[in-house]
Amino acid sequence: MNHLSAMSIPDFNISRVGPAQIESPLAKLFSDSSGFFVGDDERALYDTIGQAWSHGAMPTQIDAVNIEIAGPRRLIYFEPLEAKAAIVTCGGLCPGLNNVIRSLVLSLSQQYGVKNILGMRYGYAGLVESGMNPILLSPEVVDSIHLHGGTFLGSSRGPQEIKEMLAFMKARQINMLFTIGGDGTQRGAMLLAQAAMAEGYPLSVIGLPKTIDNDLNFVDRTFGFETAFSLADQALRAAYAEAKGVINGIGIVKLMGRHSGYITALSSLAHGQVNFVLVPEVPFHIHGDHCFLHALRKHLDKHRFAVVAVAEGAGQNLLQEEVKMAGTDASGNPKLADIGLALRQAIETYGKAEKIPINVRYIDPSYMIRSAVATPNDSVFCLQLAQHAVHAAMAGKTAMLVGIWKNTFTHVPMSTAIQTKKQIDPRSPMWLSVLQATNQPSSMQLRK
Ligand code: F6P
Repeated sequence: MNHLSAMSIPDFNISRVGPAQIESPLAKLFSDSSGFFVGDDERALYDTIGQAWSHGAMPTQIDAVNIEIAGPRRLIYFEPLEAKAAIVTCGGLCPGLNNVIRSLVLSLSQQYGVKNILGMRYGYAGLVESGMNPILLSPEVVDSIHLHGGTFLGSSRGPQEIKEMLAFMKARQINMLFTIGGDGTQRGAMLLAQAAMAEGYPLSVIGLPKTIDNDLNFVDRTFGFETAFSLADQALRAAYAEAKGVINGIGIVKLMGRHSGYITALSSLAHGQVNFVLVPEVPFHIHGDHCFLHALRKHLDKHRFAVVAVAEGAGQNLLQEEVKMAGTDASGNPKLADIGLALRQAIETYGKAEKIPINVRYIDPSYMIRSAVATPNDSVFCLQLAQHAVHAAMAGKTAMLVGIWKNTFTHVPMSTAIQTKKQIDPRSPMWLSVLQATNQPSSMQLRK
């Protein structure tokens, strides 16, 4: 996390729609001494090893920067029987979406007694009048949705007019909105929460950190990520078997990860037999001394096969023409050039030029991975994130997302979480681990 050291100290103040003055229904179930209730003054230390401090180590006696801890509050803001909640899933699919939807509904309804829960259709497109009608959600409706991948509510990319979304919320007297998505989704959610606050309309907007890419900042782990890198391992196994089974076999697996190569790095570490890990954070060149093909040739000469794991966002600087032609998606992200195919072509052309037999096997499991059912560990994580999100909403918190930081569930202001993308630090122990596991050169760039 060295990249944090260069940043100013983040703002962890959480906004709220108003004072919490109503006794939580949970107070009837659990006594004060149960230890379950969390006060706003209970905080987790943000920087446990002092990297955010300009002097290096954290001073011993300081008013340390800290993050609000998630959990049920004894006093809440919304009267459960009057409250109306809405749930929306945005962006690309991600394992665990249905687990989160289900757990939100169960917590709202069974723990707090909220009766009105709407499932908004197809992302923010369902939060404006031109969208599809919402579905009424209940424990019965969501009972078994977590047994399937995808999203029960549908999803879409792209923003909607904030004014229109707020008018839509007000017209339906919705006062809690759970936004399940990545940084683009949380940016829209933050603007909506701010617009509601500016108008004095009590709307609690709580985000849930969804992205297989694991690129949300100030959140150690997003949901879906663990499932994604676990399933990527299957593709790597196939690539390994295919590569090993032929002369000079090269198995290339392209994995998702637009800006961050976490899926590629972690699945490669899990697999243990990947020889080259290419991620957006670590630039490389394909041709030239000490560059990728050179390193691959050296490896092939010794081992006669190789496995390459490449994140889709890696090496985009090498494919500028294609990137320019590709344009942007509905979320405004530049569409990516296909680095996997580019590598395949470059390797095959190299083999012909060098007159060596080369057999490339190219695997792209991207959509199979992100549409899968969550692993048990991710399922537990989704369930708990959603439970915490409901506690936060009922307490009247807003413009925040539920995160996890050093194994503690936290409240993170959306404005802070979306400032920058979380990326692998090439100077981190984690990247060192990749270099150690693969034995790939630490740099495959042209030397000046
Ligand atoms: O949102 C994360 C993600 O899975 C990225 O890794 C990927 O680049 C993107 O979605 C692709 O989404 P789509 O194919 O739906 O545009």
